[in-house]
Amino acid sequence: MIFTRPPILEVSSQPGAPEAAGFMLFKKEGKLHVSEKSREKLAGLVGEGFLDVLEKAGYKGETGETFVFHRSEKPYKVILASLGDVDKKKGLYEKLESVRSAIGGIVSQVVEKNEDLEVYYEDPYGIDGCLGLREALVAAGLAAYRLEAFKTEPKRKLTSIKLVYTGSECSGLEDVVGEAKTLVEAVYLARDVASAPSNKMTPEHVEKYAKQLEGMLDNVTVRVIGFEEAKKLGMGGLVSVGQGAEVKPRLIILEYKGGDAGPYAIVGKTLCFDSGGISIKPSHGMETMRHDKAGGAAALGAFYAVAKMGLPVHLYALLPAAMNMPDGGAYKPGDIVEMYDGTKVEVINTDAEGRMVLADAIAYARKDLKAKEILEYSTLTGSIVVALAHVYAGLFNWNEGGEKDLLAASEVTGERVWKMPTDDIYKKALKSEYADIKHVGDRWGGSITAAVFLKHFAKDTPFTHIDIAGTAIPMGGGEKYLPPYVPKAISPGFGVRLYYEYLKKHAASKA
Ligand code: BES
Ligand code: ZN
Ligand code: ZN
Repeated sequence: MIFTRPPILEVSSQPGAPEAAGFMLFKKEGKLHVSEKSREKLAGLVGEGFLDVLEKAGYKGETGETFVFHRSEKPYKVILASLGDVDKKKGLYEKLESVRSAIGGIVSQVVEKNEDLEVYYEDPYGIDGCLGLREALVAAGLAAYRLEAFKTEPKRKLTSIKLVYTGSECSGLEDVVGEAKTLVEAVYLARDVASAPSNKMTPEHVEKYAKQLEGMLDNVTVRVIGFEEAKKLGMGGLVSVGQGAEVKPRLIILEYKGGDAGPYAIVGKTLCFDSGGISIKPSHGMETMRHDKAGGAAALGAFYAVAKMGLPVHLYALLPAAMNMPDGGAYKPGDIVEMYDGTKVEVINTDAEGRMVLADAIAYARKDLKAKEILEYSTLTGSIVVALAHVYAGLFNWNEGGEKDLLAASEVTGERVWKMPTDDIYKKALKSEYADIKHVGDRWGGSITAAVFLKHFAKDTPFTHIDIAGTAIPMGGGEKYLPPYVPKAISPGFGVRLYYEYLKKHAASKA
């Protein structure tokens, strides 16, 4: 079981003789520009009047927009991509996102057609030297992903991407390249796991993927609480959701001991398939519920990046893995389930299964692993997609000290989160006549009441929940929002870089 491998990624000041070459251009005061260095190169390759050609062809120079010149000798293809109007870009997010989008646009033009690509890297903004370069390299790698494990004839041709960088602003170039490669691998891993169909990625397969990491990374161990043990431990949430399926549920726990900071725990919803169970979903679009394990996949990816980079933290990743299926033995609306922490929960709708498995994992992280902070993500509710479409993920956090760092991390990685309300008043929606609480409120504010349900199990441990239902499952109208470095028809690996970046800055500062 191996992961999709990224192309070779490198940065060099020496150009070679690639099949394809990419250049970045930008707009200033509404006019197209290229740097002096690029102008000379481009004039040699495609003729002096290339900017006129672009204008005559109706090229607007919007962020990420590309234009391709073809040649009879190497480079056979010369691709220009725009950063957009650089005057108007004020914040770090916009600047980095335009760099990622331009590079992503260039890579998308060659992935299935050429073997190697060189991109002349430029930074008209003067972003902190290494950061822009890292993000450019990451975006190049991410744009080259194709899910081909289930195709007889793979289409990806691109095997190597080189950024040509002649600047001097970035001193620790080798470290930057290493980190970018790791981040790309981490997102590839998350995309592979999140995008695979449920017959190829059962809880058993996820367990094998996790165990594979044990041999690949230093200071990493993996332990799995199987179905029988989960029953004995009283993990009623995990057990009831998964009991109706052929492949039984389990709690997969990865541990990385890289330092004393923490322990931190990343929890990710790992529903290998969510049919809705007895409260079965309509069949239209049900196939997208193969991606309901995107939270767990992202947790695996973020964990991989932290461990591979050797961050000085103590980190757990917890993946409550299950299939939500209708069956004679499946859990039912009206059931009362005793959870791992002792809370008695009235089940209202078996399609609200994510919060049931997550509640037990969160309680386990708090009680048994003594996590100092719990970070969670899940494709939890349709209601967050109604609120934020597929653009922002919903951020619900009860970790005041960490909020600033989390938003800063999001600004850097481009994985957008929008702060949602977390007031105690929402607990009123979870009052139950029959048990301690019910697991679903009414129709209104469904993503908030779901978040408040999860928080019940974290108690006073600093807790962050990110509802990634829209951003990790962009199918069904959301693909139009994807930036050029995210291929379509996959789960994008949303959140992997976000929690890595957060832990790098926030946790390392406390080490
Ligand atoms: N996995 C779904 C949430 C989801 C919906 C993700 C659409 C991506 C796209 C989750 O388990 C679910 O079904 N939630 C229900 C909860 C409801 C029954 C309270 C929902 O949001 O409709
Ligand atoms: Zn569901
Ligand atoms: Zn679900």
